[in-house]
Amino acid sequence: MAIVSFWCLLMYMYVLSHWRNIADGARHFSPSGCQLVSKVAHCRYLRLATIPQDLPSDIQELLLDHNNVKSLDEDSLQQYPNLNNLSLKSNRVGRIDLNAFWNTSKLESLSLQDNTIFTKYISVSSGLKAALSLRWLDLSRNALNEDMVTTLLTNLTSLEYLNLDNNVIMRLDRSFFEGLRNLKELSLQWNYIYEIEIRTFDDLVNLKTLNLAFNLLPCIVDFGLTQLQTLNLSYNHIESFFSREVDIEFQLEKLDISHNQLLFFPFLPKSHHLHTLLLSDNRMKFYNKHFDENSSFADFLILENNRSSITTVSLFPDAIPSNLSTLNIVDISRNQFDYLPEDFLAGMSSMSFLKLNWNCLNTFDFSRKQITSDLHFLDLSNNILSEISFEDGNSNLDHLGYLNLSYNRLQEMPKHIFSSMKSLSTLDLSRNLISLCSMSTNIGVDQGCVDLLNIPSLQHLRLSGCDLILDKEDIFHGTLLKHLDVSYNQLMSLDFLQYTNKMLKSLSLRSSLHFVDNIDFSDFQSLTSLDISENNLTTFPVSLVHLNLQCLDVHENRLTSIPISSAYQTLTKSLHTIYLSINPFDCCKLSWYDILTKSSAINIPDLNQITCNYSNNYMFVQELPEDVIHGCNWRNGGSLLSLVLSLPTSVTLLVALFLLYRIFKQPLLKMFKKHFRTSSS
Ligand SMILES: *[C@@H]1O[C@H](CO)[C@@H](O)[C@H](O)[C@H]1NC(C)=O
Ligand SMILES: *[C@@H]1O[C@H](CO)[C@@H](O)[C@H](O)[C@H]1NC(C)=O
Ligand SMILES: *[C@@H]1O[C@H](CO)[C@@H](O)[C@H](O)[C@H]1NC(C)=O
Ligand SMILES: *[C@@H]1O[C@H](CO)[C@@H](O)[C@H](O)[C@H]1NC(C)=O
Ligand SMILES: *[C@@H]1O[C@H](CO)[C@@H](O)[C@H](O)[C@H]1NC(C)=O
Ligand SMILES: *[C@@H]1O[C@H](CO)[C@@H](O)[C@H](O)[C@H]1NC(C)=O
Ligand SMILES: *[C@@H]1O[C@H](CO)[C@@H](O)[C@H](O)[C@H]1NC(C)=O
Ligand SMILES: *[C@@H]1O[C@H](CO)[C@@H](O)[C@H](O)[C@H]1NC(C)=O
Ligand SMILES: *[C@@H]1O[C@H](CO)[C@@H](O)[C@H](O)[C@H]1NC(C)=O
Ligand SMILES: *[C@@H]1O[C@H](CO)[C@@H](O)[C@H](O)[C@H]1NC(C)=O
Repeated sequence: MAIVSFWCLLMYMYVLSHWRNIADGARHFSPSGCQLVSKVAHCRYLRLATIPQDLPSDIQELLLDHNNVKSLDEDSLQQYPNLNNLSLKSNRVGRIDLNAFWNTSKLESLSLQDNTIFTKYISVSSGLKAALSLRWLDLSRNALNEDMVTTLLTNLTSLEYLNLDNNVIMRLDRSFFEGLRNLKELSLQWNYIYEIEIRTFDDLVNLKTLNLAFNLLPCIVDFGLTQLQTLNLSYNHIESFFSREVDIEFQLEKLDISHNQLLFFPFLPKSHHLHTLLLSDNRMKFYNKHFDENSSFADFLILENNRSSITTVSLFPDAIPSNLSTLNIVDISRNQFDYLPEDFLAGMSSMSFLKLNWNCLNTFDFSRKQITSDLHFLDLSNNILSEISFEDGNSNLDHLGYLNLSYNRLQEMPKHIFSSMKSLSTLDLSRNLISLCSMSTNIGVDQGCVDLLNIPSLQHLRLSGCDLILDKEDIFHGTLLKHLDVSYNQLMSLDFLQYTNKMLKSLSLRSSLHFVDNIDFSDFQSLTSLDISENNLTTFPVSLVHLNLQCLDVHENRLTSIPISSAYQTLTKSLHTIYLSINPFDCCKLSWYDILTKSSAINIPDLNQITCNYSNNYMFVQELPEDVIHGCNWRNGGSLLSLVLSLPTSVTLLVALFLLYRIFKQPLLKMFKKHFRTSSS
């Protein structure tokens, strides 16, 4: 009985070997090598030349990416009537038989990305027409031109999502998308589109998302897709953007014209739902201050079929004709704005995120008149700001949490501007030549200092390269700083941190300790990240060994050693990352180096640039030559080593003397005896 069941078991196992069971029992492999997980067949990278026919007939998803399938024949999908999703990315499909999709009436999603459809696109086109429920089609990377696409898309009326990225389409006209009334999303990135005829998208009444990024469009005239929600025109050569002047409400929510050559602010639809407007990396500015108001009009000649019409617009209106009150996220960084018209920001009453960095602004107005919104994020870095205006007692800055004013020309700031920002947690004032107020200057006369006193919300402060001396003790009184960067300044001591040192989590003192060498960090109990690089320090601050630092940067100093003697010290246990390059470490005292490199938890990003000094020769610690190691051994070993080395020699010498003595003992005695005898005689 036992034997019979054993054989049964073997038989069973043999049968199953066709459908190998993996531990959990939910995954199987077909003989063709496909892995089956529930109703999905994963057949990627199997060098299959045809569609496998050995899969269960109820599969719904068939993923055949990266194989060598050349065609979809009449019978290749017949037995998978439930197929819903077919992916043939990166194959060599050039042909689809007329009846290939005859029995797959449920097919909704088909990816033919990166195939060779251009070779026999007419056959592919007739094959596709049988896929009556197709909603999602990817034809990207197929070297398709306009005619091919027009043929391929005819009568694919069920499509909702279409990807035509990375083809060779140069212009679009109405014949292209005829009848695609259900299309919701269309992507045409990375083509060579330089022209879009008027009415091209007329049939796409349900289009919500259009992506034309990375093309060659020179301008947009008469934008009239009222139903569109997202339009991406980034990375083109667009110099101007004009919406159709109609009173209809546009559904537009997101517009991206970044990385173009816009010369002036786009003419947005009068009425819209825009909340995200991305216009960075253009050449925009306002011109009214530079030109005579009346000399900046342009006539646009619009040719439509046989009719032509002329529209005259004021090219550089400072007053934006569109209502910007819905905008929430605005990025106009990396442009050439040298001023903003009075009501420009004032009109953006719901804005929370504004990027104005890398422009040429020399003043900025924080007053209620300008910023009426609940602004959370404002980046004004890399302008030429020298003046900031602000009225005391403002509450319009209550929500501002991030303010970046770095790389400007600020020297002073309105007295209570920062303390009126009730939520300010990140402030960057780097690269401005400022000085900080202290409690004492507060009482006395105003010296044009920047007041950072009593801002309890402030956690993250950067003051790098501000020419600060920081010799006053109470400049951060009333703040709860956690992250501070005072690198590239000239510090006299760290006394200015006496109110904050216990809370600080990260501190950067790069190139700022000209006048301080050995600093005591014992009080910095919360510190996890410290940068004391580029400081010419000759001794490693011993107090650091007792801190729980995770990140430490000591590169570019004059350290000869690091006082780490065991893997169980507080510092070695907590450390994740340490920078050590460009120091004259002593090549013969590298036991600390061995401890650090042996720990798998410690990452040394500049490991192969760590140098050491051996008799004034500098070499990479990782490639220390043998003779240096020997030399060090000799030097380190010192007298003990010479003793050990000289011992065998001495012993040999003694033994030799002894042997000599033994060998010559008898003759010598005899000789003596003889001598005495003769003498006695
Ligand atoms: C089409 O699928 C049905 C099952 O739905 C099946 O009975 C029929 O044989 C299939 N047709 C072909 C030609 O394989
Ligand atoms: C089809 O499968 C691919 C790959 O798993 C997936 O990205 C895609 O969303 C699926 N499509 C549908 C409509 O389920
Ligand atoms: C597209 O469909 C229409 C109406 O169903 C039909 O008259 C026409 O012949 C079809 N065109 C092609 C190229 O199949
Ligand atoms: C527009 O397309 C570019 C390029 O693909 C992409 O980086 C960017 O995020 C897109 N913009 C939006 C708003 O989705
Ligand atoms: C512009 O033209 C109007 C009327 O033609 C005139 O009143 C106005 O002074 C002009 N503006 C400038 C700045 O010349
Ligand atoms: C364009 O004008 C020409 C002559 O003026 C006329 O013959 C032709 O029908 C017109 N075409 C259209 C589309 O109106
Ligand atoms: C802009 O639109 C908002 C609401 O959509 C409205 O309250 C506001 O008055 C409009 N502003 C202007 C200047 O038309
Ligand atoms: C402020 O802007 C500068 C320059 O754009 C950037 O390097 C820095 O990281 C920003 N500061 C913060 C705190 O994000
Ligand atoms: C370090 O020494 C160099 C050369 O002597 C000097 O130029 C540099 O300013 C010093 N840096 C600091 C932070 O002391
Ligand atoms: C390098 O080592 C030599 C002795 O080997 C020593 O005299 C010299 O001061 C060291 N140089 C530095 C920068 O520490």
